[in-house]
Amino acid sequence: MTAAVKVDIARLSAELEELAGFTDSPAPSVTRILFTATDRAAREFFKQCCRETGLLIREDAVGNIFGRWVGSDPQASAVGTGSHTDAIPNSGRYDGTVGVFGGLEAIRALRAAGHKPRRSIELLMFTAEEPTRYGIGCLGSRLLSGTLSPAAATALRDGSGTSLDEARAECGFRGDLATVALAAGYYETFVELHIEQGPLLEKEGLAIGIVEAIAAPASMRVVFHGQGGHAGTVMMPDRRDALLGAAELALAVDRAARATGSPSTVGTVGVMQPFPGAINSIPSRCTIEIDVRDTALEPRDAAVEEILSGARAIAERRGLTVGIQMLNADPPATCGTAVVEAVARASAQLGIPSRRMVSRAYHDSLFMARVCPTGMIFIPCRDGVSHRPDEYSSPEEIRRGVEVLALTLAELSG
Ligand code: GLV
Ligand code: MN
Ligand code: MN
Repeated sequence: MTAAVKVDIARLSAELEELAGFTDSPAPSVTRILFTATDRAAREFFKQCCRETGLLIREDAVGNIFGRWVGSDPQASAVGTGSHTDAIPNSGRYDGTVGVFGGLEAIRALRAAGHKPRRSIELLMFTAEEPTRYGIGCLGSRLLSGTLSPAAATALRDGSGTSLDEARAECGFRGDLATVALAAGYYETFVELHIEQGPLLEKEGLAIGIVEAIAAPASMRVVFHGQGGHAGTVMMPDRRDALLGAAELALAVDRAARATGSPSTVGTVGVMQPFPGAINSIPSRCTIEIDVRDTALEPRDAAVEEILSGARAIAERRGLTVGIQMLNADPPATCGTAVVEAVARASAQLGIPSRRMVSRAYHDSLFMARVCPTGMIFIPCRDGVSHRPDEYSSPEEIRRGVEVLALTLAELSG
């Protein structure tokens, strides 16, 4: 099998290139937000590629796309692989996409090598791994794993008030969200290929990262309400400026993340939106969104607590009111030994140098790990850069990742 698996990196690179053309921001940046025309075009392109490969396509009520290579024992639990194609504003072309189209290439390579899987191999393109539109990451895999209830998903609204139900219906996904959750035993194992999004592999000159655990992410939306007014006529002692509450809280996030005693705690404020947003108007309202993570739950939760009590104290001191919405607070995931060891064996078989590591970014695998033994294969990316237009992994790095994925799928599918 090893010698026969041949990845067509030219074809895969061409597909990634074409996919990068579906963007709402100028190249080299990529912006592909859930259920926009651009996202829909990318979905069509993916399905077309799956069809050309002869995969059996299914889409669920939230738009997760499944492409199945039916095994010789169609009743047996399947082996899943895949990732996402949505992209945050002004990001790059490799995050997620390498696992989707790389998964497809792995299947094509296995086919060409004459592999006959006993278990079906199913390729997934998850809906909205990125939280851009609905504030919550891994929307598709949360629903698949039963982590997010259909009622909670139905209650989601985007920044312009469009509900998830309205947005998905516009794309033709009208089914009951309760049907998205996977039946027990649907997958035997799941494995996701992804760029590392950090610097370790490149620094150490290694081609493959074997992920053993995925860090615990939490995020919250905090809205300060104050009093608007004329920037020239409301004197300073009379102000209740909502933006200043948010600004103070942003600094408190930075302090809280540095103070947990864990070097792994990180805290970020990536969204701050004053209302009405005019230079000569005191902000009457300001929304900030905060992302806090750690590989361990305790320091992550300590930072979250510190931030939330900070928000209340700031509001009180500044005469503001504050609304707090916890968007998610997920535990870390441990990868399944069977998958971790299969990835290690595949790398060794191919003579590719690897190391074990933790994923500090989250992925759909965080939730697939609740469904079945799950693992991830990381490949290096230049300077560890991700979520930026200059994100880059070379064709050679991608090729080796796909080879490892193909051999892993071969072993897991029997
Ligand atoms: C995924 O994109 C993450 O934010 O970790
Ligand atoms: Mn991402
Ligand atoms: Mn990703």
